[in-house]
Amino acid sequence: AGGGEQHITDYDFSFEGPFGTYDRNQLQRGLQIYTEVCAACHGLKLVPIRTLSDEGGPQMPEDQVRAYAADNFSVYDPELDEDRPAKPVDNFPENNNAGAPDLSMMAKARAGFHGPYGLGINQLFKGMGGAEYIASLLAGYTGEEKEEAGTIFYENTAFPGGWISMAPPLSDEQVEFADGHANDVEAMSQDVAAFLMWTAEPKMMARKQAGFVGVLFLTVLSVLLYLTNKKLWAPVK
Ligand code: HEM
Repeated sequence: AGGGEQHITDYDFSFEGPFGTYDRNQLQRGLQIYTEVCAACHGLKLVPIRTLSDEGGPQMPEDQVRAYAADNFSVYDPELDEDRPAKPVDNFPENNNAGAPDLSMMAKARAGFHGPYGLGINQLFKGMGGAEYIASLLAGYTGEEKEEAGTIFYENTAFPGGWISMAPPLSDEQVEFADGHANDVEAMSQDVAAFLMWTAEPKMMARKQAGFVGVLFLTVLSVLLYLTNKKLWAPVK
């Protein structure tokens, strides 16, 4: 931390709140942005490609996932002792070429909101903000750059310290969506941030559903126990 004032925008994501769900179309756009732009430097080594067709995710048909894997990635196969096109059973490859961190868990590893004074009140009301951080980071370049010890740093209003070594990865209209969806930097930043939220927490929708059923069950149980207690003690009082 330190440096300039860190600015995180509190975007409204579809997956927020106790009943929030991932927007399947947004996840598919995010996947496309990741594939066409981010994958050049960042891996997703903890994410199995087959999960792209899972319930609650981008939900791509299985034949599309097979084609996507083979078209975009190749993996080293120890049995063949050579690279072969990726299959759905493989994970997304890791990528260490540019020294960029793996993005599988990034939306959980970063927090967008803090404080006040480490109490976590902001996080209680706004959520942890991992996706907000990523979206704000991608849209937070000021255009200023500087060179230090042979490395170029780019000024960014979301990055702690204010200077990041990742060049602005997105520019307006860089990725074309099949459905003609908005592709300015701000829109794409949110789409890819939503996709990375899904890679970090693919079972979020199932978790929220189980939580809701649990709370409902405990509410009914409380009422029954209250009535039982009343009945049990009625003769004594
Ligand atoms: C760091 C996302 C494209 C190179 C990061 C971080 C995120 C991120 C979330 C971590 C920032 C932190 O530590 O808090 C993305 C996304 C991309 C993308 C979503 C696509 C839209 C790229 C590309 C390159 C790259 C194309 C290489 C040309 C790096 C490097 C870092 C980094 C070198 C480490 C920066 C530092 O710690 O100073 N990226 N990135 N990224 N990224 Fe990217």
